[in-house]
Amino acid sequence: MVTFLGVLISLPCFILFLYLFTFVHKFWWVPMRITHVMSSQGIRGPPYSFIYGNAKDISNMMKKSTSSPMDMSHYIFPRVQPHLDSWLHVYGKNILYWQGPQPQLVVKEPRLLKEIMSIREISMGRQDMGTISNKVFGGGLVFSQGDKWAKQRKLATHAFNGERLKNIVPAMVESVDMMLKRWKDAGTKEKDVYEEFKTLTSEVISRIVFGSSYEEGKQIFQKQGVLIPLAAKQLSKTRIPGYKMIFKDKDDLEIDKLLAGIRDTITNMIRIRENTIVSGDDSNSMTDYLGILLNSYHDVDENYKLSIQDIVDECRTFYIAGHGTISLLLSWATLLLGFHTEWQETAREEVREVFGNQNPSSEGIARLKKMGMIINETLRLYPPTLSTIRKVLKETRVGDLVLLANINLHISRLALQQDMGIWGEDAHLFKPERFSEGIANVINKHPGAFLPFGYGPRICVGSNFAIDEAKIALSMILQRYRFTVSPNYVHAPIQLITLCPKYGVQLMFQPL
Ligand code: HEM
Repeated sequence: MVTFLGVLISLPCFILFLYLFTFVHKFWWVPMRITHVMSSQGIRGPPYSFIYGNAKDISNMMKKSTSSPMDMSHYIFPRVQPHLDSWLHVYGKNILYWQGPQPQLVVKEPRLLKEIMSIREISMGRQDMGTISNKVFGGGLVFSQGDKWAKQRKLATHAFNGERLKNIVPAMVESVDMMLKRWKDAGTKEKDVYEEFKTLTSEVISRIVFGSSYEEGKQIFQKQGVLIPLAAKQLSKTRIPGYKMIFKDKDDLEIDKLLAGIRDTITNMIRIRENTIVSGDDSNSMTDYLGILLNSYHDVDENYKLSIQDIVDECRTFYIAGHGTISLLLSWATLLLGFHTEWQETAREEVREVFGNQNPSSEGIARLKKMGMIINETLRLYPPTLSTIRKVLKETRVGDLVLLANINLHISRLALQQDMGIWGEDAHLFKPERFSEGIANVINKHPGAFLPFGYGPRICVGSNFAIDEAKIALSMILQRYRFTVSPNYVHAPIQLITLCPKYGVQLMFQPL
């Protein structure tokens, strides 16, 4: 009897002890140990605060730096990532900080970076995502791992490169043409190009991913448009661990509703597509990305077979990855050309030389060298994706540095791309001529200092697609309009997962 009672009492005690032990281990012991090991290698950073790490400091610094607009300067690093700017000044080139109990090692030495990213145990490691990121991005190529990643990567590489890309050019031209017709019909001088480019890039990716079903694809975009800022808001909230498993606020419920809506629309599209294939109504239905994915759904080889959920995740991933980034690139590029009108003229002359008054062709796009320089300089000063984060999968030595397993390696593009030590005194100025000898020339001098599309096996699968679309849109605009920045434009870049203009980009257009 005594023994039985003893067990009854000691079992909850044991569970409580285990819980406390795990809690203290995760939130105190591991951070202390990692801080010690890294500081013994000369890596320092802001002190770890119990449970929250430096998350509250980051949130406060960001609120402060973005509370009002900034002067018209391209030196946006201190505003957009104020915590990194401040800590890199205080603690040196490579620093350790904490997102809750998760260590983040910021590496700002280009030489070290390239070496680190060449190591497979690092370049393949995706960071653990929180519940929100998991819901919004989970499952698709951007966050998948191992065999699933290899399978998805192969399909995406096939869909977005080489010959297939050439065939996509007419669809891009048609979509830009539609946008320009809308501009002409509206007849207004001032336009918020950020809004215009969001519509344009939605249109393009809808056609490429969903082909004939792109009208339905647009509904998904509308929902994604609401979803991303909501997810960014939730990500910036500092919460007690485990809170989300118990409580859901209004925004969490809205996110769930939007995700369910997106899933239903895509599942429905797949069903309709399956029916048309079976009835033989649509011979082209397997040539868009949805068609390629559906082919894999029917693949007899288990190594290549995708489930319906895989297809839904992949379609959503390409919507997110392939639309927001290009609209940002175009918005920042036109803003820069609106300010630096001498470069606008240079680009226009080049477009006239290559295309005259004709629509862009895939062969001509490759000859737009000056425009390529303008695009690179835009990506350097205003990189749409601000950071690359990799989880170190197993303890690895790089030079003198031992990187512990499970540390997140954080590469901040702005920290590297706006650094005067790397780019010279004029690092904060818009000077496309620095790319006149090609990217390789820049990269050779400072390997790892300019990686707008990432590096290694997980490099962006849509980079050629993005550059082609940007060149086509810019060429067609330059053929028809001269533009300047509107007096209503307010310079306020902010991090909303990607680098966004908080109040849009208002430009004044003059028909040619
Ligand atoms: C200006 C436009 C774009 C920029 C700046 C950009 C940037 C990037 C970067 C930096 C990465 C690597 C992320 C990392 O290493 O963690 C990446 C990956 C990726 N991008 Fe892009 N991207 C752009 C356009 C696109 C487009 C148009 C698509 C699709 C059509 C796309 C699809 C992807 C995918 C699927 C990945 C994940 C690849 C993998 O993990 O294997 N991106 N992108």
